[in-house]
Amino acid sequence: MASRVHLLRRRPLVWILLAGLLALLISGCGTGPQSALAPAGPVGMREAGLYNLIFWMAVVVFVLVEGLLLFTALRFRRRTSDGIPSQIHGNTRLEIVWTIIPVLILIVIAVPTITTIASASTIPQGPDVLKVTVIGHQWWWEFRYPDLGIVTADEMHIPVGTKVALTVESADVIHSFWVPRLAGKIQAIPRRQNEMWLQGDEIGEFYGQCYQLCGTSHANMRFRVFVQSKADFDAWVKDQQAVPAPPTDPEAAKGAQIFQSKACVGCHTIAGTNAKGTIGPNLTHFGSRTTIAGAMLEKTDANLAMWLHDPPGVKPGSIMPNLGLTDDEIKALVAYLDSLK
Ligand code: CUA
Repeated sequence: MASRVHLLRRRPLVWILLAGLLALLISGCGTGPQSALAPAGPVGMREAGLYNLIFWMAVVVFVLVEGLLLFTALRFRRRTSDGIPSQIHGNTRLEIVWTIIPVLILIVIAVPTITTIASASTIPQGPDVLKVTVIGHQWWWEFRYPDLGIVTADEMHIPVGTKVALTVESADVIHSFWVPRLAGKIQAIPRRQNEMWLQGDEIGEFYGQCYQLCGTSHANMRFRVFVQSKADFDAWVKDQQAVPAPPTDPEAAKGAQIFQSKACVGCHTIAGTNAKGTIGPNLTHFGSRTTIAGAMLEKTDANLAMWLHDPPGVKPGSIMPNLGLTDDEIKALVAYLDSLK
């Protein structure tokens, strides 16, 4: 004991490590914007409920087993006067009991697990269900609303309290679509359509994240889900369906010309213009978004200028190259993109 105290006193590193471990443990207690333990919809709630059930059963088992272990170690520890303890070879009743108890525990876990899996994988149908096709790209998400004729990126809008049936695909490698507070994750696999559903019961902004290592900027492949009131969602749909008017502001008009004359049109679509590329995000209503570059950055003029100046410098591996734009060109492009409401 004395030598151990001595070790702790002499090694601040040991204390730093202990403090670090404690911090790590405590940090797990919070509920951040990507916590599956703070569900905001029926799918997430069932899954979190299952997690809680298994977690607390594991806590009870741990406390019981470790408690008995400690009790036995202390109660039956070797004492100098003891001699050889009585020798025991098996106890049939005990063995039956500790076989039956885990079987019962597994049944209690299995029933809600199977019903939760069944409910999460039963895709809702009907006129009230909103259909969205989600396509993973290196490194951003595309959202298509086939029944509404909307194509957008990085930000999915859904009405509150509405079942949303998602078809998840990939344009390149395997990604994984995950909005922790709304539902579990599902893989986006090339040439395959996976299906899942979710529902947001709370109006607000929910963070999403690609969960499958998919290349250099996997960690920068984020997105947002906006759960809106029905009226706000309908207004958003109406805005998204409209073709933006050509810009009237001279700076934005200059930006529109630059956009049409540069490589931009080969990769991006802007409805009502000659830009019909599909490699990069559809920018038709870019000005209505709150984030850029796979929701990696807030959409501010400064961030957009930084992005246009050197995309791979901002997002490592970005497929959008550095186009060598001048500061003047960038200023005009920012004005144009902002005008696309
Ligand atoms: Cu896409 Cu990780």
